[in-house]
Amino acid sequence: MVLASQKDATLMITVQQHILQEQQRFPGATGEFSWLLSGITMATKLIQAKIRQAGLIDILGVQGNVNVQGEVQQKLDVYSNDVLIQYLSSRESIGVLASEENEKPLLFHQDSMEAKYAVVFDPLDGSSNIDVNVSVGTTFSILRRPDDVGFDDTKPWVLQPGAQQIAAGYVVYGSSTILVYSVGNGVHGFTLDPAIGAYVLSHPNMRMPEQGRYYSVNEAYLSRFPTSYAEYIQRLRSGELGYPYASRYIGSMVADFHRTLLKGGVFLYPPTTEQPDGKLRLLYEANPVAFLAEQAGGRAFDGHGNILDIVPESIHQRTPLVVGSQVEMLDFERTVMKTG
Ligand code: AHG
Ligand code: MN
Ligand code: MN
Repeated sequence: MVLASQKDATLMITVQQHILQEQQRFPGATGEFSWLLSGITMATKLIQAKIRQAGLIDILGVQGNVNVQGEVQQKLDVYSNDVLIQYLSSRESIGVLASEENEKPLLFHQDSMEAKYAVVFDPLDGSSNIDVNVSVGTTFSILRRPDDVGFDDTKPWVLQPGAQQIAAGYVVYGSSTILVYSVGNGVHGFTLDPAIGAYVLSHPNMRMPEQGRYYSVNEAYLSRFPTSYAEYIQRLRSGELGYPYASRYIGSMVADFHRTLLKGGVFLYPPTTEQPDGKLRLLYEANPVAFLAEQAGGRAFDGHGNILDIVPESIHQRTPLVVGSQVEMLDFERTVMKTG
């Protein structure tokens, strides 16, 4: 068998094969976990197909509903949410699904002892970018039902610190469609080969560079950030970390994080005067990218500590997010978090 770690592998490794290999790390694995993940890979293939058609058919534009965040839902948000729920809920190992687009978690297989996973997801991240043909994504986080917890209360299933994630990942729908995931054994990236309709291993054992050249933040809000954040951004610009940084900001967290993972640097969504907890959601945006960042050798903070240590209080709670390479994060820790 060709292993994912063999860089000169000539045989293609699909994500399905890779998951089966990874699964052997779980004692008593029955194949249910790979079946669960195949729900995500299948759904995201359908989502990417719909996104690729978006300019061709009458799918762009708003659905007319407002989601639980008070934002206008795009049609593709609704489609992506429906497809993920449809494919994941058919897996018997799923007990709870929680989505950005649903106010409350959904329960499945309440009579089954096999239902022991919760999946928390943002079905379409960066959806305001769809109308302008800019990359969007899907993020997901997988949690295990804690012992002695039933179906009468779903909170313990999903309100777990990110450090408890057993798997997390994202799909970025860009110039190609790339799935990046981790089960706590490194980070691996797969590119969808449209010719065969399979995600093929393209980025084994991804490591974030020690230091990058870009910072990524919505700089229009600079005067609304805490002073310490503005000073940190100024340090990056002025060459305090060795050279002056350039900026890149797409406005789709998945795409901005994907670049940061590959090229290094730092992505920030800081607190603002209007939104002291920032904009991004802890459970299905910050936690998956924090898990991947740490697995790839980077760090992720909320301005006070590690993102993965936050004990969530509610499903849609927001958090400031600063995620990136070792050098940038160490400097952030020293200059912004120094006062605790
Ligand atoms: P979503 O489309 O799921 O609501 O998320 C949008 C988010 C995120 O992708 C991005 O980082 C952020 O919004 C950009 O916000 P600003 O326009 O405030 O910079
Ligand atoms: Mn989002
Ligand atoms: Mn979204």
